[in-house]
Amino acid sequence: MQINRLTLCTDEDFRQIETLIGVLSTSCKANREIIDEVIAKEDSHLFVARNEEGKIVGMTTVCCFTIPTGRHATIEDVVVLPECQGTGLGRRLVEEALDYLRSTGKAYKVGLTSKPARVAANALYRKMGFKQKETNVYTLDV
Ligand SMILES: CC(C)(COP(=O)(O)OP(=O)(O)OC[C@H]1O[C@@H](n2cnc3c(N)ncnc32)[C@H](O)[C@@H]1OP(=O)(O)O)[C@@H](O)C(=O)NCCC(=O)NCCS
Repeated sequence: MQINRLTLCTDEDFRQIETLIGVLSTSCKANREIIDEVIAKEDSHLFVARNEEGKIVGMTTVCCFTIPTGRHATIEDVVVLPECQGTGLGRRLVEEALDYLRSTGKAYKVGLTSKPARVAANALYRKMGFKQKETNVYTLDV
């Protein structure tokens, strides 16, 4: 299994990303324009795990942003195909994202969120050393 930053999305890659987004959420639909934008932007980095046949079986995105309090990043949309889960791939994807941040110095602090119902994800993040922060998360459609 190889993990790399996606810099060009083929139609086949997009179909596999579409499947992964379906695993992540029943309400979100994959959008080609958005994936191309994620790849093109300097502050977002999409990492994909490919199997021996070159098929994308897992992914995560790192988003970097600079605010007056410093350089920060978030790790978003960590997902692995159900048939590949439990083999250490989720951990490897998050490690790759952390290595990238450490090696580039793009952020000194990284955050992420996960619903309590996502048992596997919460266990993974805690095991990797992420500490739960007491805060309220708000969203608003704009
Ligand atoms: C969360 C997810 C990415 C984890 O990927 P994975 O490849 O299955 O996880 P790994 O095999 O790397 O497991 C790493 C650790 O996660 C935890 N974990 C994984 N699956 C678990 C499960 N079903 N129950 C409890 N803990 C689990 C364990 O602590 C495990 O460490 P261990 O193997 O030493 O016990 C994957 O389950 C997934 O895609 N889930 C659906 C989408 C999702 O919820 N994404 C998170 C969005 S915030």
